[in-house]
Amino acid sequence: MPSYTHLLCAGLAASLAAAAPTPSRVSDAVKRSSSSCTFTDASAASESKADCSTIILSNIEVPAGETLDLTDLNDGTEVIFSGTTTFGYEEWDGPLIKISGSSITVTAEDDAVIDGDGSRWWDGEGTNGGKTKPKFFYAHSLDDSTISGLSIKNTPVQTFSIESDNLTIEDVTIDNSDGDDNGGHNTDGFDIGESTYITITGAVVMNQDDCVAINSGENIYFSGGTCSGGHGLSIGSVGGRDDNTVKNVTFTSSTVSDSENGIRIKTVYDATGSVSDITFSDITLSGITDYGIVIEQDYENGSPTGDPTNGITISDVTVDGITGSVEDDAVEVYILCGDGSCTDWTWSDVDLTGGSTSDDCENLPDGVSC
Ligand SMILES: *[C@@H]1O[C@H](CO)[C@@H](O)[C@H](O)[C@H]1NC(C)=O
Ligand SMILES: *[C@@H]1O[C@H](CO)[C@@H](O)[C@H](O)[C@H]1NC(C)=O
Repeated sequence: MPSYTHLLCAGLAASLAAAAPTPSRVSDAVKRSSSSCTFTDASAASESKADCSTIILSNIEVPAGETLDLTDLNDGTEVIFSGTTTFGYEEWDGPLIKISGSSITVTAEDDAVIDGDGSRWWDGEGTNGGKTKPKFFYAHSLDDSTISGLSIKNTPVQTFSIESDNLTIEDVTIDNSDGDDNGGHNTDGFDIGESTYITITGAVVMNQDDCVAINSGENIYFSGGTCSGGHGLSIGSVGGRDDNTVKNVTFTSSTVSDSENGIRIKTVYDATGSVSDITFSDITLSGITDYGIVIEQDYENGSPTGDPTNGITISDVTVDGITGSVEDDAVEVYILCGDGSCTDWTWSDVDLTGGSTSDDCENLPDGVSC
């Protein structure tokens, strides 16, 4: 069956019927730029995406080993997820979805779900071994754009990979809670790198790794988030990549519950770079199992060494209004800085209860205590 029969295009249907499949069917730029297209087939959507100003993805079943590829969309394209989006099973790297372009709006109908059915891949090993698991959603070069109202379930491994400028993400829910008892691992919510002006508001993330992790980037704002089950709100690990600068990041008005950490900055041992102008404010913690607040400069091969270095500076950090509780075998605050590399921190209204105080803090900046 030719792919255009999967494409129901208001304003294009007539020209399709008359002229398909010759190229002349896309020669009318005006019609093309004002077309609303409904797709029920992933490859039809990928092939015809340039012909549509609105792309409705209706109950798409993405075939195994394929990407729902909405890259290089025309400026201003609107993408709407409708019904349930599903993916066939294959061991591969993915991603399962990628969208790029400028001034793109990605939304979903109220009851729409993007369902990764991750349990088919979950084996407790995440990206450390076992089955090769597909990444979920690449928002790379999705600039001056907005993603809002998506409801995502059970991703195989990491959910959003963000490398964009001026991207706003509003009211997105990532519910990987089925992975808690079924081997979900490394199911990060939002991984951000090499990006500027990223705003994420109203996110709900239930997962088994970082709620947010920022490896590099500037002018990033996270507010009104609800994170549970994972590793908390994190900058890092920073170091050892092409871009090792994190600047002007705010995490505010959020809760982190039943997670390994509340808020965290980690930098790589013996690397160079900088982390500056960071604010964590008005964050409520509960059920934290490892550290309420942890800032450490000793990561090597993804694990702490206990031996901090000072090649990455962490400066102008505001920690204000971090309250709530940690588990009784957790540490409330742990700071391990290199010699002279942590400077100009402002620390106020840190009120955590329930855990122990660390004896292992080093090189604390003025005004900060463990
Ligand atoms: C991001 O927004 C700023 C301010 O509106 C603008 O100057 C810049 O060109 C935008 N960047 C991209 C990649 O669109
Ligand atoms: C810091 O980032 C926020 C948005 O994320 C932006 O509004 C603000 O202008 C930035 N501040 C500076 C000094 O660039």
